[in-house]
Parts: sequence; C-alpha cells; structure tokens
Amino acid sequence: MRVAMIGTGYVGLVSGACFADFGHDVVCIDKDAGKIERLKQGEIPIFEPGLEALVERNVREGRLAFSVDAADAVRAADAVFIAVGTPSRRGDGYADLSYVHAAAEEIAGLMDGFTVVVTKSTVPVGTGDEIEAIIRKARPDAQFAVVSNPEFLREGAAIEDFKRPDRIVVGAEDERAKAVMNELYRPLFLNETPIVFTGRRTSELIKYAANAFLALKITFINEIADLCEAVGADVQQVARGIGLDKRIGNKFLNAGPGYGGSCFPKDTIALVRTAQDAGTPVRLIETTVEINDARKKAMAGRVADVLDGDLTGKVIGVLGLTFKPNTDDMRDAPSLDIVPALQAMGATVQAYDPEGHEAKQMLPGVVFKAGPYEAVEGADAVVIITEWDQFRALDLDRMKALMKSPNVVDLRNIYRPEDMRSRGFRYSSVGRG
Ligand code: UDX
Repeated sequence: MRVAMIGTGYVGLVSGACFADFGHDVVCIDKDAGKIERLKQGEIPIFEPGLEALVERNVREGRLAFSVDAADAVRAADAVFIAVGTPSRRGDGYADLSYVHAAAEEIAGLMDGFTVVVTKSTVPVGTGDEIEAIIRKARPDAQFAVVSNPEFLREGAAIEDFKRPDRIVVGAEDERAKAVMNELYRPLFLNETPIVFTGRRTSELIKYAANAFLALKITFINEIADLCEAVGADVQQVARGIGLDKRIGNKFLNAGPGYGGSCFPKDTIALVRTAQDAGTPVRLIETTVEINDARKKAMAGRVADVLDGDLTGKVIGVLGLTFKPNTDDMRDAPSLDIVPALQAMGATVQAYDPEGHEAKQMLPGVVFKAGPYEAVEGADAVVIITEWDQFRALDLDRMKALMKSPNVVDLRNIYRPEDMRSRGFRYSSVGRG
C-alpha cells in the first residue's frame, strides 16, 4: 500500500516508520523544511528508543522517504494520514483544529483516484465530518472516504505499542475504506490483534474515553495514596491487592506527582469541553483535571515538609524533569509546577535529566548538572520527580556522602523506605504511610 503521512511529529514519525517496516511505501511530509532536511540526514528530532534505527533501515531499504512537498505522495497514496498537532487552544481548552483543517484543504487539492483520508491526530467528535465537508466542497466529484484511526502510543514505548497493540480502532462507514485499513494493518493479524470497526464518531470518542479513563485511574490511586499516608497503609500493596482483580487490572496504578505529557492533560480538558457543549458534562473527568492540577502544585510542599517547612537559602537537588522516563518531552511535566514552586519558597534548584534538554529554556534559574551525583552534591534535600532507570540503583552511600543533609523525597516510590532509613536517609515517598 502507498501511504502519505502528513505531519512528522511524534505520532506521524513513529506511525510512518512502523508502516514502512511492515512493508508499505511511506512518504512522511512536513512543512518544516529544516526538519525534513534533518530527517533525510537520519537525524531524529525526538528521543524515542529504537526510532532512529527503524527510520535508518527503512530509508535505506527504500520504503520510507521524507518530503516538504505533499503533491506526489498524496496523488499516489491509497491512504493519506493526518497526523498533525491538535494542541489545546489558548484560553478555552478546546482542541485547536487549524492544522487538521489546513491538511484537509491541502489533501483535497491533490488527491487522485479513490483515497482514504485517515485522522490519526486526536480530534474531537465530529471532526471527521468536518474534514469530509472541506474535501467535498473543494472537490465535489472526488472519490474518497474519511476514516478515524486513533493512536494509543505511549512515548518511550511507541514502536512496541504500534507493532504489538492491544487493539486497532477504525471508525469507517465506507466498505472500500475498511478494506484499505484492513490491508494496512494486515501484518498485525499474525499476532491476532483485534481490529475494532466502529462508526467514525464512536472511534473519535474512544480515543478520548481511553485517555480520560487512564487519567482517572491514576488520579484515583493518587487520592488513595494520600489516604494511605493519613491512615498508615501502603498504596503499592493496595494497588496490587485491587489490581489482581481482572475487572480492575494492575496497570496505571502507580501513585506519583500527577500525570503530565502531551496527551492526558489536553485530552481530558478537550473531553470536558465536548461534553459540556453536548449538555452531558463528564463530572468525573472535570474533577480529575482539578485534582491533578492541584496535586502537581502541592508536591513542592512535600519537599518543604522534610526541611521543617522552610526552604529559604536551601539547595534542592532534582532528579528527572521530563513528564516520564524514556522521552525528552517536557509537555505538562510535573517538574514545571514543582521546580518553580521550590524556587518561590526560596530554594536554589540544581537538576539533572538524561534527555530533558528543553527544560533549560522552560525552567529559568535552575543550575543544570551533568549527572545524578553532581545534582545531589551539596543538597539539603533531593527530590526524584521522574523514574529514569539510572536513578533506580544509585550508589546510596556515595549519594549520602555528597549531600549536605540526607533528605530524599521520592515522588515515584523507586526506593524501599526501610532500605533508605537503614542507610540513614530521612526519606519520604508517596502513599506509604
Ligand atoms: C498516553 C497514553 O498511554 C497513550 O495510549 C496515548 O496515546 C497518549 O497518552 P503517554 O502520555 O506517552 O501516553 O504516557 P503514559 O505512559 O500514559 O503516562 C502519562 C502520565 O501518567 C505520565 O506523567 C506518567 O508518569 C503518569 N502515570 C502513568 C502515573 O503517574 N502513574 C501510572 O501508573 C501511569
């Protein structure tokens, strides 16, 4: 199959490279000429394990190409994917669809023969109808179908998620389009991946419902963690005790500083707006958003608590800044709330993150260090914000010797309280009362 992928952001690039790896012919298109030039040189703009090698191999073997010009690729394509950004609109939280609409206009002007236009971008319910109307208006006699095919890729595990998904969701009404989508995902039939065919609006909603449910699950365990602290229980054992019930499931029950990233924060807000407009508010999700925002803001207080409430003139070492490990993504990372709050309370912050280079622009006043031991040196307290693997087995005696005072706030529960205490740390974690 011939695929044109409009947008070489996270989703477009990973999906394009994986489709090529399945054996399809893929052209990834982006307006950003500098980015396309760098991609042609084999330079990957994001940090995603395995992606560089995957792109390199598929380019070398002639299945994957990059271009600023959509014309040839769209004309030749069986399926054109829209994988452009849908950021939160400033001020009101609605998804900004201007890039999606622009892509639809562009595709309309170029497509030739029966073409399936697929939205991979996360778009509010009804966007497929809008795309169809845009194309129909520009090309009244064109042969095409608009399909929704949401992605469920986790950053840091995106290639694995694409190639071994729990399910594929396709919202399509047109039989020819269904056949094209079946053919595109045929390589997954080997692992018997279920393909869920639904109506287009249903598919658009599935994506939001999935993300909202996961955000809700995390928020639930975070509140239970607070309760555990108050009553002397252990949230990790609670999570295990409830997670073994198959109706609940053991995933996404790690308590922490609150969820961040490119999807959950923006998609929960967008769902709240859609539901309010439809006159059926999703109050659980409204509350989830509120609780999570407040939680991220409250985390700095935990650091102040271990220093008896006063951070004036104190040095805080921060380990991890990205919203989760194995990504360089800083979008809505809890660190963006925690670090400025520590600074506002009078602390000097020194930090280390293996990939969060963007943090240098986003967190003014922070002293960036070259490694974890440099970041803890001279600190009155250390706070672990992101659970990078390299922080899981630090040389604790070395760390303690480097620190000014042995205070550790572990917001990801990567250490055992009894180990830390026996080594002489004053240790606080999440939900282990
Ligand atoms: C998410 C969805 O998982 C994915 O299906 C969707 O397509 C995009 O959004 P991603 O944002 O990459 O993926 O990361 P994810 O692993 O889901 O984590 C999101 C946030 O939740 C992170 O801040 C993470 O630290 C937090 N989290 C996750 C927890 O605090 N506890 C958990 O148990 C799981």
